[in-house]
Amino acid sequence: AWLQNGFEPDHAAMGPIHDFLQQIITTAQAGSGIYQTAVQELVDGIRSITGQKPVCMESGSGRYLTLGTIGSSSFIDQSIEAGEAERLGDEGFVIRKVDRGEHVYIVLAGKTEKGLLYAVFHFLRLLKTGGLTDQVDVTEVPKYRLRMVNHWDNMDGSVERGYAGQSIFYRNDVLLSRSARVRDYARLLASVGINGIAINNVNVHRHETRLITEVYLPDVARIADIFRNYGIRLYLSVNFAAPIELGDLRTADPLDADVQKWWKEKAADVYCYVPDFGGFLVKADSENRPGPFTYGRDHADGANMLAEALKPYGGIVLWRCFVYNCHQDWRDRTTDRARAAYDHFKPLDGRFLDNVVLQIKNGPMDFQVREPVSPLIGAMEKTNQIVEFQITQEYTGQQKDVCYLIPQWKEVLDFDTRIKGEGSTVKEIAAGLVHPYVHSGITAVSNIGDDLNWTGHHLAQANLYGYGRLIWNPELSSELIAKEWALLTFGPNKAAADTIADILMASWPIYEKYTSPLGVGWMVRPHYHYGPDIDGYEYSKWGTYHFADCHGIGVDRTQSTGTGYSAQYEKANSELYENLETCPDELLLFFHHVPYTHRLKSGKTVIQHIYDTHFEGVEQVEQVISRWRGLEGDIDAERYRHVCGRLEAQLENAKEWRDVINTYFYRKSAIPDEKNRVIY
Ligand code: GCU
Repeated sequence: AWLQNGFEPDHAAMGPIHDFLQQIITTAQAGSGIYQTAVQELVDGIRSITGQKPVCMESGSGRYLTLGTIGSSSFIDQSIEAGEAERLGDEGFVIRKVDRGEHVYIVLAGKTEKGLLYAVFHFLRLLKTGGLTDQVDVTEVPKYRLRMVNHWDNMDGSVERGYAGQSIFYRNDVLLSRSARVRDYARLLASVGINGIAINNVNVHRHETRLITEVYLPDVARIADIFRNYGIRLYLSVNFAAPIELGDLRTADPLDADVQKWWKEKAADVYCYVPDFGGFLVKADSENRPGPFTYGRDHADGANMLAEALKPYGGIVLWRCFVYNCHQDWRDRTTDRARAAYDHFKPLDGRFLDNVVLQIKNGPMDFQVREPVSPLIGAMEKTNQIVEFQITQEYTGQQKDVCYLIPQWKEVLDFDTRIKGEGSTVKEIAAGLVHPYVHSGITAVSNIGDDLNWTGHHLAQANLYGYGRLIWNPELSSELIAKEWALLTFGPNKAAADTIADILMASWPIYEKYTSPLGVGWMVRPHYHYGPDIDGYEYSKWGTYHFADCHGIGVDRTQSTGTGYSAQYEKANSELYENLETCPDELLLFFHHVPYTHRLKSGKTVIQHIYDTHFEGVEQVEQVISRWRGLEGDIDAERYRHVCGRLEAQLENAKEWRDVINTYFYRKSAIPDEKNRVIY
């Protein structure tokens, strides 16, 4: 992946920096394992990039690198300005050249060892991408406090919505707590700034329910140790009905004193083994999982009960808001799944303890290729929130099709909710800068498995890499992240990196073109979610409909004639979506039911847009293939061939989508394609 080594060192490109790389002056730091990790990563990184192993010493002169926390050595402290330590906070860092006559050095420093570790990875990234000069002066502080990944891994080794092999954490109900793969993963995550990980599926099945018991805690602790050395805290998903399922109690009622006591004891056990345990992630009353509703209690009752148990140890509850009726009657047009999260949670604002964090998916439905931003984000002033993205490509090509998701996430982060007037973007809300949240940040469902290349499709690695980079600094552009990843991963060939970045940048729009049009979503094969099946969910209980008939298509979510969902947004946004004239084309069918002859802002009719985009999508996949073929010889043969294979499969997929969608809508609407292309 992007920490990969073995490219030919380019000494010339390193220029004067090269002189600094031969000696590393360490500080005699007791501290935690993170300092050792930082030194080790720096030494190994430099060796792999330059081909020469640097020497570590406790003092020296001439040109060198030095690394440590502020306060640990006078060489470091002399390079830090007054007040800088405070500005760096717990995770920020500086990389700075200092010139003091006999001593000319580059200092890598953080206020904490964690900051220092991030400095090391940043330094190596700059070195490897040719972004380091001998006048370096970089200060970085992450935008978000919680920067997490979630794993939907099960203890039998399967991964729910995993497209890259089996779990790296479990096999046959055993934790792989001594696996080198887990440590490698910790390195990958830390190198892009991730600081929290939930290692089991939010759907907590029988064996996983016991992860918080002494049967499994020793192994959980070993995995936590691995991540701790990389500055990453461990979290577990828990089963709300655990007191019953583990055979201890007959109820899981959050207001029952025995239940409360039970969870307090469990929390105490967990902290015995993992003293810096992050907390519990909970999917309750969602898709048939147990929760407080069984006992006539609400989600504040449920979350607070767990929060009380974790509070003495500084743990948090990540309580998911993916709560909706999954037994809906398709005949009932008044119930709207998109409304559900807001309707359930907004009235509870002010009732949650301050170590509860509501975890909200980026859109109101479920990680579709296109959705509006969830109106719940920012809507609760007094309740901590964390935004949830999906790195694993459940609905976006399943790591068979290329779909670089950073541009999608950036659109979400840049969305202005206007909750507190202009500038109330998701980006600022998730940073706790719009409402003063005690805990906030961003999380996402990971896309890795035990495949040798981690992500099934090589190019899907860019999503994991980019996710970390983006939530460290959401101002980075998608292009820059793509180029950085390509250079780190495929070696220092700028032209090749540009081509790969172009392919990535084009991929989400292409995927959107040949799949579901204008924000309508859900035209996928039920359960699998790969490949077209237009009516697959149309008469189902899941609340996922497009309502296409012979006249038109789309879901009327307006306040005036529809489900009223549009009213969940602040006035300016609500009006924007409510009004057919102002609703953006790409979300038109999410908010409105319109005739096929309705004219979009582009000037095209809806039906012609459907035909055109589906033909274009396939043509553009063909163009991507020819661009990729142009890379032959510029990147290593194995990965070149692997991606060729995936792209051929993507082309078949795109053709299938094109023909199924076009044919379906031609037959429904009886309106021919203006350009007379083949539709079946
Ligand atoms: C989707 C996904 C499920 C997952 C769920 C969730 O519905 O298909 O596999 O469990 O989201 O986020 O909880």
